[in-house]
Amino acid sequence: MKVTVQEAVDLIIDGNVVAFPTETVYGLGADVFNVNAVKKSFDIKGRPSDNPLIVHISNLDQLKNLTVHLPKSALKLAEHFWPGPLTLVLNKSKEVPDIVTGGLSTVAIRMPNHKMALDLINQTGPLTAPSANRSGKPSPTRPDHIISDYADTLPYIDGGVSKVGLESTVLDLTGKPTILRPGLITDKMIADVLRESVRSHKHQNNGPLKSPGTKYTHYKPLASVHWLETMPPSPSTKHYYILNSKRKFSPAENIHSYKGDFKLLARNLYDHFRDADFKGCTDIFIESIPKNLSHPAASALANRINKAIGA
Ligand code: TXA
Ligand code: MG
Repeated sequence: MKVTVQEAVDLIIDGNVVAFPTETVYGLGADVFNVNAVKKSFDIKGRPSDNPLIVHISNLDQLKNLTVHLPKSALKLAEHFWPGPLTLVLNKSKEVPDIVTGGLSTVAIRMPNHKMALDLINQTGPLTAPSANRSGKPSPTRPDHIISDYADTLPYIDGGVSKVGLESTVLDLTGKPTILRPGLITDKMIADVLRESVRSHKHQNNGPLKSPGTKYTHYKPLASVHWLETMPPSPSTKHYYILNSKRKFSPAENIHSYKGDFKLLARNLYDHFRDADFKGCTDIFIESIPKNLSHPAASALANRINKAIGA
């Protein structure tokens, strides 16, 4: 059920969880220092307890309180990209309860770029917030998605449609800067600020997974997702098409054409996944993202779509 920011503050201070908007996707907020509240957020989502949470902050004093041995690179990136869709993995201070990090010695932190989120966190203090979907479902990018996942039993703040639509970039700064999850802030944008090279998630070797979340199924609609090979002359109404090239296709209820607007495609991708399920489509076909595309959304889109395909 819908609540105001002020009601959400009271609920969170009382140890409850509340979904709130960020620029990427909606998060399920709990007081980071309240172990029972954080536990509630794992239970409500149905999330495995070894998959750590991102802590959302509204100022840099909170960052200093939650971490130890803060590298200069973290402050540089914070200055450049925060508030914004970049999460930094840093060495945690003893203030951060183990349940938040799934027992890891590191903590993931970001400052979201959304007025209501910042307003909320200013009054509650730092909040843990996994994406507010039920575990395994696509992340919610609109209030309707939350209502549908929890039959309207979960309190949420209505911040409209999430602007970015895909989850933040997760960057590990505890060693050589390494991207654990691509997002709209790219390796190149980070390397330009740090003036050093950034490793991409693809180059992680077979050692222990640095981002435990990556081993779980994510972003999956009920319909099977495929890369589109060729557009059939008469598409079936059981099939859902997401196209991105500038070629002309006549749009229809199940055919969505982005004509090179990858930013808008990123914003709408999860809504399409849910819409296809709602319409009872069996398959979703997505036109492939050109390999040499230099658009900032390219690698995050390919990553989420590949996960939805199950590749
Ligand atoms: O955009 C986002 O990041 C959204 C909004 C709500 O801020 N949040 C989000 O949270 O996507 P979640 O829980 O769905 O994904 C967090 C990811 C997971 O893959 C998790 O494994 C990883 O961040 N993560 C969290 N803490 C980590 C840590 N200490 N080390 C490595 N990876 C970590
Ligand atoms: Mg998630």
